[in-house]
Amino acid sequence: MTGRVDFSGVQSTMLVTLYLRALESRSEDSILRDHAAAEAVRRIDYDWRKLQQPGLAGNRFGVALRAKQLDDWAAGFLRRNPDATVLQLGCGLDSRAFRLDLPPGVRWFDVDLPDVVELRRDLYPDADGYRTIGASVTDPGWLAGIPADRPVLVIAEGLLMYLPTVEVERLLRRITDRFRGGELIFDGVAPWVAGFTQRLPERLRRGYPPYLTPLRASRDVERWDPRLRYVEDVAVTSQFAKIPDRTARAAHRLMSRSPALRDWLRLVRAEFGTSADG
Ligand SMILES: C[S@@+](CC[C@H](N)C(=O)[O-])C[C@H]1O[C@@H](n2cnc3c(N)ncnc32)[C@H](O)[C@@H]1O
Repeated sequence: MTGRVDFSGVQSTMLVTLYLRALESRSEDSILRDHAAAEAVRRIDYDWRKLQQPGLAGNRFGVALRAKQLDDWAAGFLRRNPDATVLQLGCGLDSRAFRLDLPPGVRWFDVDLPDVVELRRDLYPDADGYRTIGASVTDPGWLAGIPADRPVLVIAEGLLMYLPTVEVERLLRRITDRFRGGELIFDGVAPWVAGFTQRLPERLRRGYPPYLTPLRASRDVERWDPRLRYVEDVAVTSQFAKIPDRTARAAHRLMSRSPALRDWLRLVRAEFGTSADG
């Protein structure tokens, strides 16, 4: 068991995604099979009953589909670039570095706020080629410690929407300044979703912060940093066929057919610099 955990603010959001991945891993036809999440939930001394709210468990499929698509993109990049550096920003307690079969040459850095990284270190062992960094991604300092001699894969899952747009722009520009080439894979919420969270009274947000930076179009990424080139995107709802539960599959299929709802959560792959394919 870890010491008692009770985060507030943006750090608390990673307990929700961890809990949902753990729930999803219990299904026989699990999409993600993130058994490390289930083990982490077992070991963290937190009152998980706080997350047993009506409707929340239904989000486990969206969270798993998002993670699975990012896993697939990451695995593809690492097949093409087996000596890459990976920066996973706002890693929370995600186990991607252990979930993927990493080529031995990969150097993986998981970055999150210091208190999250402290908890993370209690749960996941350090390994060769794997390091955690406790810092705000908006702080320019931490990046200086990362060797910039290899292609870079930047993963930002459930992060950029929480940052003010000016900080998203600064962060991405610092990365494309430092590395010669690579890819960014991330998710973004539609403007109506961000607007909804901003209008929600604090007591109904249950301590979770609102989304500050929506994704208006997948090519927003080229506006945030003109060195980035949009490659492809995937709406999470479009992946409904992978959902084992019939009701949730039908709901996601319905959403995928509505232009307004389809893109509520989208994943984007972008590249920069010299071709990441070598
Ligand atoms: C929704 S959680 C996602 C966590 C993880 N990527 C996942 O999918 O489970 C958002 C994460 O971003 C982290 N975060 C938010 N703002 C941050 C910042 N300025 N610097 C570093 N991490 C930050 C939070 O602490 C939290 O772990």
